[in-house]
Amino acid sequence: MNSKGSYFFLDGVRIPFSEGDSILAAAQREKHYIPHLCFHPSVSAHGSCRLCTVKLDGHWVAACTQPAKPLIQVTSNSPELDKKRLRLIQLLFAEGNHYCPSCEISGNCQLQALAYDLGMTHYHFPPLYPTRSQDGTHPDLFIDQDRCIYCGLCERTSNQLDGKDTMALSGRGPTTKLIFNSSSGEMGDTLANSHDQLAHICPVGCILNKKGNYSVAIGQRHYDHTPIHVIGNLRPEQKNNEPD
Ligand code: FES
Repeated sequence: MNSKGSYFFLDGVRIPFSEGDSILAAAQREKHYIPHLCFHPSVSAHGSCRLCTVKLDGHWVAACTQPAKPLIQVTSNSPELDKKRLRLIQLLFAEGNHYCPSCEISGNCQLQALAYDLGMTHYHFPPLYPTRSQDGTHPDLFIDQDRCIYCGLCERTSNQLDGKDTMALSGRGPTTKLIFNSSSGEMGDTLANSHDQLAHICPVGCILNKKGNYSVAIGQRHYDHTPIHVIGNLRPEQKNNEPD
């Protein structure tokens, strides 16, 4: 069957898709929320955070990399999946240094929003308290790797949307870190500027704009009043509730 004009079922709802769509891309276009952190429809899928795990034919698959196929039955909304997602979120909290009350992005952070949404009340895993670096050398952007979840969105955005290759993930496992494409190795000597899409893509508080982070008070931000499963993945500056 040609997939043009085809559809699949997500939690029993008919989702139309086009050739080349992933399950997540098609679902998002139809405004059906599947949790995710490392996916953005404008850049290639990474498949690393696994928050978008869904059940297909009895198997767990990442909805952001799994191609949509005609008539498949996909389950996303289930207590079993939410428990798996909660553990993934708890792992992310335990392996970084996420202190929400002192974070400029609190209320706009997708990691924090998913933790609330999935009912996280404690770490579950022993926190690692890793030693990570910050880079404040750029005039407009601050990098706080304590909060990085290594989703790779910044790397793909800089490469595929900004055409600059400003930064990349380097290393593996606990040695993973962001590195910067400049002779000094510092963010301030890269070609990045605050108008780049890179400056607005981070789902957490790792890439911060130095100005304007408190234009909306904590307590009045996107996820302070509306759960992420209702409004989707929003960036701090998105006012129209158009998720990406
Ligand atoms: Fe699919 Fe991250 S959104 S693995």
